[in-house]
Amino acid sequence: MSGLSTFRCLACGASFPLAGSLTACAACGGLLDIVSELRAFGRTGDAWRDLFDRRRAAASSEATRPFETSGVWRFREHVLPDLPESGIVSKPEGATRLYAAGALGDELAFSRLFVKHEGENPTLSFKDRGMTAGVSWARTSGFSTVACASTGDTSAALAAYAAEVPGMRAVVLLPDAKITDEQLSQALAYGASTLGLDTDFDGCMRLVAELTAARPVLLLNSKNPVRIEGQKTIGWEIVQDLGWRVPDWIVVPVGNAGNVSAIGKGLREWLDLGIIAKKPRLAGVQAAAADPFYQSYRKGFSERVTRVAGETAASAIRIGAPVSHPRAEREIRFFDGVVESVTEVELLDAFALANRHGLAICPNSGVALAGAAKLRREGVIQKDDLVVVVATAHALKFAGTMSAYHRGGGRLANPPRRLPATLDAILAALDAPRGA
Ligand code: F0G
Repeated sequence: MSGLSTFRCLACGASFPLAGSLTACAACGGLLDIVSELRAFGRTGDAWRDLFDRRRAAASSEATRPFETSGVWRFREHVLPDLPESGIVSKPEGATRLYAAGALGDELAFSRLFVKHEGENPTLSFKDRGMTAGVSWARTSGFSTVACASTGDTSAALAAYAAEVPGMRAVVLLPDAKITDEQLSQALAYGASTLGLDTDFDGCMRLVAELTAARPVLLLNSKNPVRIEGQKTIGWEIVQDLGWRVPDWIVVPVGNAGNVSAIGKGLREWLDLGIIAKKPRLAGVQAAAADPFYQSYRKGFSERVTRVAGETAASAIRIGAPVSHPRAEREIRFFDGVVESVTEVELLDAFALANRHGLAICPNSGVALAGAAKLRREGVIQKDDLVVVVATAHALKFAGTMSAYHRGGGRLANPPRRLPATLDAILAALDAPRGA
């Protein structure tokens, strides 16, 4: 089927046919949504669930095309129904694990805590879900150059997906010295034109908009609604992973606010199609050093707050002017959501605690976990609620932060020890009280 999707402006309501070059409203410059007539397929909620279960079961054994094992394209009719299958650029991605975090949950007073580990994607973050959609779209729209501003993970994903397409160039604008070496090395290794600029993420975002207006280059930040369509699949996979149970809460770290918007949009669509019958509640969490969305929420969203984002160990969400604010506000309202903020100590301890339980999640994911713990302590989340924390990237993208925490004085610090090369020294070290 084709001709199912249109662009619609969130600000003025204008509609436009899908066109690769359009990344903002042609009438007022507002944010665009992709609106798809998914009911045109004529399937019931039961029929959709059955189709997705059959695809998931077949994924490993009978797949003939790489995208068939993808946790994004498993849902392809609901992602970009007008995209020809021949245009799909997939590694594949998604199909990440949902961990039942029993012991971690016990420590934080949850009886049903799960962690959806998006760090298990090909470039070790959830951005691969948006980028498989974005780069597929760029290729079928005839673009040979794609660009983004990034705090490190979008750029890694953009570079890795562009590298799959012969002749496609990726250009990434990064705030100089504000992303990790691991993230930077990903963009370099995948061959992106990597430009470190003497500004912050918000400055890079303004410049990439100018660049993509000046040249025939497709903008692939989540301002481009095509990215949102790929990322919607996180919420859908969570529900399918849970055997079609809808959790009571989904907790997400918020930076540019694309991801919480995407998870909400996807679940609204599934409510509309009758695939799910219950709304989860959404919680967005920010680091106190970069909390404009939280500040807006505190004012009942009467004002769109922006600020200069301060330094934080959650460097991937060091953002002062979230581009997707209007989308995220819509989803927080619809899902009876809340927005929380956590301190550096809280986010680092949550990061280390999850790691200690064997979950290699990043400090940005630590923000979400710390936020969930705080909401639990405050009684907003109940002990028996089914709670899913979205871990957005892998710990090893932030190895420097992890190592600094353990060499420093954090509550859970586990510093390495240097010893003389003798058995006596080893035995003495093992017999000494821990931390001595
Ligand atoms: N977690 C990680 C690991 C991220 O990289 C990001 C965003 C977020 C959370 C927040 O998601 O922006 O959709 O609210 N990183 C972007 C980047 C900004 O450039 O990699 P969001």
